[in-house]
Amino acid sequence: MENKKHIALVTGATGGLGTHICKRLANDGYIVCANYRSKEKADAWAAKMKEDGYDFHLYQADVSDYDSVGEMVKKIEADHGTIDILVNNAGITKDGAFKKMSYDNWAAVIAANLTSVFNCSRHVINPMLDKSYGRIINISSVNGQRAQFGQVNYAAAKAGMHGITKTLAIETASKGITVNTISPGYVATDMVMAVAPEVRNKIIEGIPVGRMGGTEEIAHLVSFLASPQSAFITGANYAINGGQHVF
Ligand code: CAA
Repeated sequence: MENKKHIALVTGATGGLGTHICKRLANDGYIVCANYRSKEKADAWAAKMKEDGYDFHLYQADVSDYDSVGEMVKKIEADHGTIDILVNNAGITKDGAFKKMSYDNWAAVIAANLTSVFNCSRHVINPMLDKSYGRIINISSVNGQRAQFGQVNYAAAKAGMHGITKTLAIETASKGITVNTISPGYVATDMVMAVAPEVRNKIIEGIPVGRMGGTEEIAHLVSFLASPQSAFITGANYAINGGQHVF
């Protein structure tokens, strides 16, 4: 299949990783549907993207809400056709020591980072099965593989993604659909820059490559997995963390 005919949906598009994933997939020739939650942020983002030469199709939905995602997917299908590539990128952090973690901070992170993967994948999977083609790429984290103080909620969600990836991969493998996880390490996004500098700098000291990752480097891996040529890769987890966690 030609890339040009493919429709990609990137959730959490307005974030640091999402922005570069959208740009890379557009550069690759895909029609990119960019999901956002807050209209105010999305308007400013779309204006900036236009300045950079990108005209993405924007779609609002709260990915933690099953029905909201369903409405978004229906609109995309009406506007462009069924989705070929889903990048489950949306995510939040609500870090804090477990002994102080509120139920709300647990539930919000599980809903936005893990239940969202169910919600989005569930709404796109049947059309993918019908046409015997699809790519689902779940953006997890090095902190779903290793321990990070203050991230019980986030680590549980990001580790949970691997379970979805592996099982959904074998359920759909015979139908031309691949399902994979990418586990980025520390990348200079707003989310990472919100960590206190003294904590962050200590973490960076532990990265053998000697720096944080670039958003473009993560987008490059998404592009690789999204390609029609990556048809034999499924159920895999790709670590991309500068050697911070090797196993
Ligand atoms: N290691 C060991 N002990 C720690 C600690 C650490 N990193 N951080 C705090 N503590 C201790 C404190 O000394 C304190 O001890 P006492 O109870 O004995 O006094 C106790 O733990 C509680 O500390 P705080 O009151 O400071 O805890 P807090 O709930 O306010 O939050 C924290 C601590 C802000 C979460 C801090 O641990 C932290 O910043 N951790 C890093 C989180 C992180 O890396 N987040 C990544 C976000 S980006 C991302 O997630 C993207 C990605 O995929 C990589």
